[in-house]
Amino acid sequence: MNLPHEAGAPDHYGLVGHPVAHSWSPFIHGMFAKATAQNLSYRLFDVVPEDFRRETLRLLTGGVRGLNVTLPHKQAAAELVNELTPRAARAQAVNTIAFFEDTTLLGDNTDGVGLTADLERNLRIDLADKRVLILGAGGAARGVTGPLLERELRSLTVANRTPYKARKLAAEFADMGPITGCTFAELQGPAYDLIINATSAGLQGEMPEMPQGLVGEGTVCYDMAYGRGHTPFTQWASSLHAKRTKKGWGMLVEQAAESFLLWRGIRPSTEQVLVALAQYD
Ligand code: ATR
Repeated sequence: MNLPHEAGAPDHYGLVGHPVAHSWSPFIHGMFAKATAQNLSYRLFDVVPEDFRRETLRLLTGGVRGLNVTLPHKQAAAELVNELTPRAARAQAVNTIAFFEDTTLLGDNTDGVGLTADLERNLRIDLADKRVLILGAGGAARGVTGPLLERELRSLTVANRTPYKARKLAAEFADMGPITGCTFAELQGPAYDLIINATSAGLQGEMPEMPQGLVGEGTVCYDMAYGRGHTPFTQWASSLHAKRTKKGWGMLVEQAAESFLLWRGIRPSTEQVLVALAQYD
């Protein structure tokens, strides 16, 4: 794909994932561009795992200046780039690629700062001393683990369908704080303060089977996924009378603002976008 470079033409950006059709990122980056008077386009690229490397390099050498990366490619993206920011190197997962004129292909991860901004700034949750559970140990979980551990949590448990991935992730981050990896079946109460769904099970309309006792009246349940109405995870949490359930709209917008900052040197305000998206919640 060759994209125009003539004067006055927009700079091209986009999202690579599979699936991507449901994504609100073009809407969000379109609002950011308008608010900051940046001339850019943002498109969706549905790319299957077998084609990820070839297609991504083709887009970038064809004129695309930056890409967001979503499931299931975040870990493959960390291997593709030739430089990683410290937070992406920590996560070994990349959700933002910037292609600079000197041909540096830089991988960053803005998921963690996106999640913590939404939890702390938008939802006013103080994470210090909290018992936190992450469901899932893929690229999405990897991006948020470091920034969560930086909050001096009491404990962080990572539970995953495939146990070795949870244990490997916990081992990689053990120097940062109290983290353990386990299977869903190994989980037990007392109820967590915060449960974060970082699995992609909801895309298939599924919620993995969970033991009893994880959700109490003080538990906040946060789904990194977003969409209209309940997700399988927020449905599960509501049925157990969680204190609060929340979908990942805020994380989506905050991580997008950080990607925009890397690409354009300006961090757009997220407030207006959050208000605009609230009607689709
Ligand atoms: P992402 O970038 O969203 O993390 P990913 O790296 O493909 O995407 O990871 C998907 C995560 O969702 C994994 O933790 C995966 O569990 P496995 O490691 O066992 O594959 C989890 N996942 C996907 N579908 C699931 C399901 N139906 N039930 C439970 N976990 C599921």
